[in-house]
Amino acid sequence: MIRKAIYPGTFDPFTNGHLDVLERALNIFDYVEVVLAENSQKQTLFSVEERLDMIRRVVLDIPNVNVDVLHDGLLADYARQAGAKAIVRGVRQVKDFEYEFQMSLLNRHLYPEVTTVFLMPNVKYTYVASSIIREVALLGGDVSKFVHPYVLDRLLLKRPGRRSQS
Ligand code: PNS
Repeated sequence: MIRKAIYPGTFDPFTNGHLDVLERALNIFDYVEVVLAENSQKQTLFSVEERLDMIRRVVLDIPNVNVDVLHDGLLADYARQAGAKAIVRGVRQVKDFEYEFQMSLLNRHLYPEVTTVFLMPNVKYTYVASSIIREVALLGGDVSKFVHPYVLDRLLLKRPGRRSQS
């Protein structure tokens, strides 16, 4: 039996911390589907297409990974339809846990066969969150250690005064 997991998130943008969690998930599961959850109520720096493009580029050479998008539906329904029994979430700090705990139990209520698996990234990524990466990059800081070079280029294009190619 193929052990398949989904790894959902907003990924605005996908960071090396996300990549670290994905690689850890691939050590446990046979196949991982990265699911970009489109939440039309959430303001994002990058469009869904831009975020998908960046994730696809970052995972290009990693086997057993697929990238998909969830358009405003429930993650539990997506997991059921995809035949995934596990949802992977990265946790960096204790403060992440309350929200994650709620989501995990709610997803289990909606789809009792699903189990959320929490993975800790390498300690060097514990303070790496997409929000802080966006802020630092847009204000001119160096975030090259925390994102793939392709993502870095996309971030630099979003700096004020730079014209986006999209
Ligand atoms: O990267 P994020 O923003 O922490 O990811 C949150 C995400 C996308 C996993 C969560 O908002 C989600 O699952 N959205 C899909 C809609 C849904 O199922 N919501 C109920 C969650 S219990």
